[in-house]
Amino acid sequence: MNAAAQPGERRGRRAWDRCQQLAAITSAPGRVERLYLTPQHARANDIVAGWMRESGLRTWIDAAGNLHGSTGSVGSTRPRLVVGSHLDTVPDAGRFDGIAGVMAGIEVAGDIGPSLPFDVEVIGFGDEEGTRFGTALLGSRALAGTWEDEWWELTDGAGITLERAFVDFGLDPDRVGEASYANRDLLGYLEVHIEQGPTLDRAGIPLGVVSSIASARRFEVMIEGETRHSGGTPFDERHDALLGAAEAIIAVERLSLQLSVIGTVGRLEVAPGAVNVIPGTATFTVDLRARHDHERDDSVTSLEAVLREICERRGLRYRLTELHAASAVQCADRLLDAAREGVDAVQRPEPPTLFSPAGHDGMAVAAIADVGMIFMRNPDGISHHPAEYVSPDDLGLGTAALATAVRALS
Ligand code: GLV
Ligand code: MN
Ligand code: MN
Repeated sequence: MNAAAQPGERRGRRAWDRCQQLAAITSAPGRVERLYLTPQHARANDIVAGWMRESGLRTWIDAAGNLHGSTGSVGSTRPRLVVGSHLDTVPDAGRFDGIAGVMAGIEVAGDIGPSLPFDVEVIGFGDEEGTRFGTALLGSRALAGTWEDEWWELTDGAGITLERAFVDFGLDPDRVGEASYANRDLLGYLEVHIEQGPTLDRAGIPLGVVSSIASARRFEVMIEGETRHSGGTPFDERHDALLGAAEAIIAVERLSLQLSVIGTVGRLEVAPGAVNVIPGTATFTVDLRARHDHERDDSVTSLEAVLREICERRGLRYRLTELHAASAVQCADRLLDAAREGVDAVQRPEPPTLFSPAGHDGMAVAAIADVGMIFMRNPDGISHHPAEYVSPDDLGLGTAALATAVRALS
């Protein structure tokens, strides 16, 4: 371990305190919930921009609502290294997923950025989770220049379209292309993030480096049957949508175990939802992840076969709507080596090399730049939950490791 850990710990404490402060910016009192293009997003951008400026960074909001803070001057033609993560959350979230990486980036850019032969740009992406519009990575996809026009019609839970949300946030949908960095000279994208599983905690090691990020697809499945009286309808005349959904949901677990994918049904809605009415529709989401795209895609083919069989047998219909797709991403050797050098500088044990089953902004940014990630220990590995945690010391180590990794790229 070298001396870099000491200032890193102080920077980590400030970054950690800021994660706590940001948790107060929420649309759900008593819980953390901050969604893309909401007043809470705008407020978080304001506060974090203030912290960026305190660290000497020049700030702006891009055409997709992402917050940027750069060591570079206006019109700089130097290459730029992007560091950061996301500022949005899932419902009833923890305080560190995404946020910790943005705070660590600000510390590093402010501290060592000005001495480097390239610009360091910290980005707080507006949407990684996809909580509001179902499609994830909207902020980082705008940056990557892979925005799709069909997304404008996506709606949130209140029926507000993504296009309307842009306008309400003060953005011009016609100018979203201006957020793209596809033609910029990027040295890479480095992200520090909490681990969202228990590997580091179980090994008793504060930091690890990421070799690859899982491939993902998300769907909404609607099963339609027939709404009828719960008492009067004989069993041989029932077309119960919920029973079809129940079988399909169990099949998602079975397919996951058989096909090396991670499948989750996280939301289920039943209509009309009365105690004495046979459910006419059941709508649920399916989140699928795998190490490789082909495993993920094979599981979708199997899921469709299962849905067809269940619906034929029970006299139901189904509709499968894809909400999100992202390919697996391999971290680039150059950034993996820099991340390893960073971690080596601040901890004694060899950094474990981890596969990330969780999604990250790097999945989108990989379309235009090499990507590298450092994971920080998260006690018990719990995330997307209020108990999610990283200690100030570990965040300090992550921040110091990021600083060394950034230097290593010069
Ligand atoms: C984001 O945290 C995801 O993995 O879905
Ligand atoms: Mn998350
Ligand atoms: Mn995250």
